Amino acid sequence: MPTGCSPLPRIVYYASPQPRAKDPYGFWEQKHRRMSQIDIPASWAWSAAEIAQRRWRKVLVIGAVDRGKSTYCGFLSRHLLAAGWRVAIVDADVGQKDIGPPATITLGSPDASLAKVQPTALYFVGAVSPVGHLLPMVIGTRRLVDAAQGEFVLINTTGLVQGVGRILKGYKIEAVQPDVIVAIEQGTELQPITKAYRNYRTLRIQPSASAMVKTPEQRREARERAFGSYFQAATEVVLPCRSLIFQRRDVPTGFEQHLLCGVADRRNKGLGLAIITELNWSRGTLALLTPVLAESIRIIQGGALHLTPDGCELGRR
Ligand SMILES: Nc1ncnc2c1ncn2[C@@H]1O[C@H](COP(=O)(O)OP(=O)(O)O)[C@@H](O)[C@H]1O
Ligand SMILES: [Mg+2]
Repeated sequence: MPTGCSPLPRIVYYASPQPRAKDPYGFWEQKHRRMSQIDIPASWAWSAAEIAQRRWRKVLVIGAVDRGKSTYCGFLSRHLLAAGWRVAIVDADVGQKDIGPPATITLGSPDASLAKVQPTALYFVGAVSPVGHLLPMVIGTRRLVDAAQGEFVLINTTGLVQGVGRILKGYKIEAVQPDVIVAIEQGTELQPITKAYRNYRTLRIQPSASAMVKTPEQRREARERAFGSYFQAATEVVLPCRSLIFQRRDVPTGFEQHLLCGVADRRNKGLGLAIITELNWSRGTLALLTPVLAESIRIIQGGALHLTPDGCELGRR
């Protein structure tokens, strides 16, 4: 039962506590869980019904770490797909990805099958935390939201909501101009953000009691697994430096071994990730480990992370 509580023209809705609903949405694989196993608080069901009924297309999901943002995005996708809408997801959580490899912002289109969502577009951020990388976070999110098709676009975000995270969320809101912000909030932890942007329509919903906290070590291991599985399909490609364009960082100086890079085509379309294995000055070649086809690579975007092919983080810049 929504109640108006904003002094500004747009209404901020608060979900009312109601008995928990049983999952009426069938099955959908979200990471390793089946939707049938997830708990659906009444506020989640209510928010999904509102979003679908009012056709709020751009849905920005915010919340601290492990509050259930990814689970909610899976649940909301399923709800919208079941109603016959096309759904796009922009996964802007560079550290704990649901779609595509870490250090990127990705766009994907889930369907009603249980298949894992593959990215259809990718923007390289170059880091697994937004700290120190706010510009690519905001630009990448905006670019993929612009590229998204479908009646609904769900934008999932990192759990960084304090300090620089609060600033980032603010700029993201300004860049994306969401039709609705879904704030998964425990207590009043998101108030600094929701108050500063209370001119935007916001649905505050509760985290599920089933939400489980991961340790920093578990998060690091999950990233390592995600990088490792991405680079499993990689081969070494050797490219002549003169045919390449180096962006974001200077032309390599020889200290870039293991540096994580984004690779893009000549139109700057992100193709994937690469790890620099060797810069050969005498031959003028750059060797990369990447699953991306060598023929399409024209642009190398330097990242801020050194990585082994099995996903082990060697250091950040
Ligand atoms: N509604 C829910 N029902 C069951 N488990 C949940 C629910 N919400 C979150 N969880 C569990 O809590 C953990 C964190 O949820 P997740 O969606 O990954 O959070 P976030 O994306 O905000 O970091 C996961 O293990 C997830 O399966
Ligand atoms: Mg998540």
